[in-house]
Amino acid sequence: MASKAVILVGGGTRGTRFRPLSLDVPKVLFPVAGRPILSHALSALSKVPTLKEVLLIGFFDDSVFKDFLADSAKEFPNFTIKYLREYRALGTAGGLYHFRDAILRGNPYRLFVIHADVCCSFPLNEMLEMFEEKEAKAVILGTRVDPEVASNFGCIVMDPHTKKVVHYVEKPQSHISNLINGGVYLFDRSIFDVIGAARSARAEQFRADPIDDEEAEILRLEQDILVRLAQADGFYVYETRGFWRQIKTAGSAVPANALYLQKLFQTDIYAPNLARASAFIVPPVYIDPTATVDPTAKLGPNVSVGPRAKIAAGARVKEAILLEDTEVKHDAFVLYSILARGVKVGAWARVEGSPITAVDHLAMTSKNGVRVQSVSILATDVAVGDEVRIQNCVVLPHKDIKVDVENEIIM
Ligand code: GTP
Repeated sequence: MASKAVILVGGGTRGTRFRPLSLDVPKVLFPVAGRPILSHALSALSKVPTLKEVLLIGFFDDSVFKDFLADSAKEFPNFTIKYLREYRALGTAGGLYHFRDAILRGNPYRLFVIHADVCCSFPLNEMLEMFEEKEAKAVILGTRVDPEVASNFGCIVMDPHTKKVVHYVEKPQSHISNLINGGVYLFDRSIFDVIGAARSARAEQFRADPIDDEEAEILRLEQDILVRLAQADGFYVYETRGFWRQIKTAGSAVPANALYLQKLFQTDIYAPNLARASAFIVPPVYIDPTATVDPTAKLGPNVSVGPRAKIAAGARVKEAILLEDTEVKHDAFVLYSILARGVKVGAWARVEGSPITAVDHLAMTSKNGVRVQSVSILATDVAVGDEVRIQNCVVLPHKDIKVDVENEIIM
C-alpha cells in the first residue's frame, strides 16, 4: 500500500527571519551541506519504501520550484514530486485541507507532513513502525530542548508509558514540558475529518464574531488540529534521540550545515565532494567540484564551499557556508559566517561570528548585555576590503566594507 508526503514550504511572506539570505532564493532552497534545505527532507523520504508521491504545498510563484523539481525528479526516481500553490497563505493545515482531493488521490494509507524548515535525522521509518504498533491515527516527532527555550515551541505532554499525547499547547505562557513539536507528522486519512471539524468550528466562531473573512479561512495545524488530536484517542509521540533544530533565522543555517555535514560524514566518509582529512582539511568539509581551493588554505570543520568559489593561499575557513562565486583572498579568515553569492573577502581580512552550538535554538548571542546575531552574514555581492575586520554583523547586498565593523546591521 502506498503512502504520500506533504512538505509545507510556506511562501514569500513567511521566512522573513531568514533575510537577507532569502532575498535571492527562498529559504527552503538555500543550500546547506551542499544541497537545498528541501533536498535533505526528500532524501530521507526516499528511504521510505512505500512512498509514491511528495507534494510541496506553499504560496510561492510556480516558477520558484521549476528547476528544483526537474533536478529532484532525476535524483529521486522512486516517487513523483509536485508543487501545489495555495492562492494565498492558508495556514499549516489550511493548505492540506484545500488540496485534500489531490492528497487522497490514489488512496494513500499513510500521510507524512513535514515542515520544510526543520533540520533533523528524519526517523520516518521509525515513526511508521510506531504508527503500526500502536494502531495510531497520528504520530508526531518530539524532541527535548532546554526547559528555558521550550515555550518558544509547541509543547507536548505525553504519557511516559504509552507514549500517548495527553496535552498539546503551542508556545505556552508558562513551562509545561520540554518535549516539543519537531515539525514532522504521520497521519492516516482520518486527519481530514479532524481538519474538517476544526474548520467548521472556526467558521462558526467567525460567524458569531465576523472580523475578517480571510482570517476565518486560515487553519493552523498546531493550534487548531494538534490540540484536538490530543483530546481524542490514537495520537502518539515518537521521541527522537537524533539531532534536531529549526532553520528560522539566517544564522541558524550555520549549525544546520554542521549537523547535516556531520551526518553525511558519519554515514559515508567517502561521499562525493566530501574533502579527505589532511593537515589542511579538518572534516567534515564539502567542496563543490567547480570550486578552487589553494592547497595551503585550511578548511573545516563544518564548511561548505559552493560552485566556482575561490579560496586563496593561507586562508582559514571554519564553521561557514560559502555560496557560489564567492572569493576569499590570501590569508583571510572566515569563521561562523555565511558568504552569499558573489561575496569577496580581501587579503588578511577577518569575517567572524561567535560560536553557536547545535542546541542553541535562538542563534543569538549576548555581548555587553546586548543580544546580537551570532553569525556574520554577508549578503549577495558584498565586498570586504583587505585587512578589514567584520564581527557579528549582517551586511545587506552590494555593500563595500572598507572599515572595521562590529555588532551592526549594515544597510
Ligand atoms: P513561527 O515559527 O511560528 O514564527 O512561524 P513560521 O512561519 O516560521 O513557522 P510555522 O511553524 O508557522 O511554519 C512551519 C512550516 O510551515 C514552515 O516551513 C513554513 O514555511 C510553513 N508554513 C507556514 N505557514 C504556511 C501556510 O500558510 N501555507 C503553507 N503551505 N505553508 C506554511
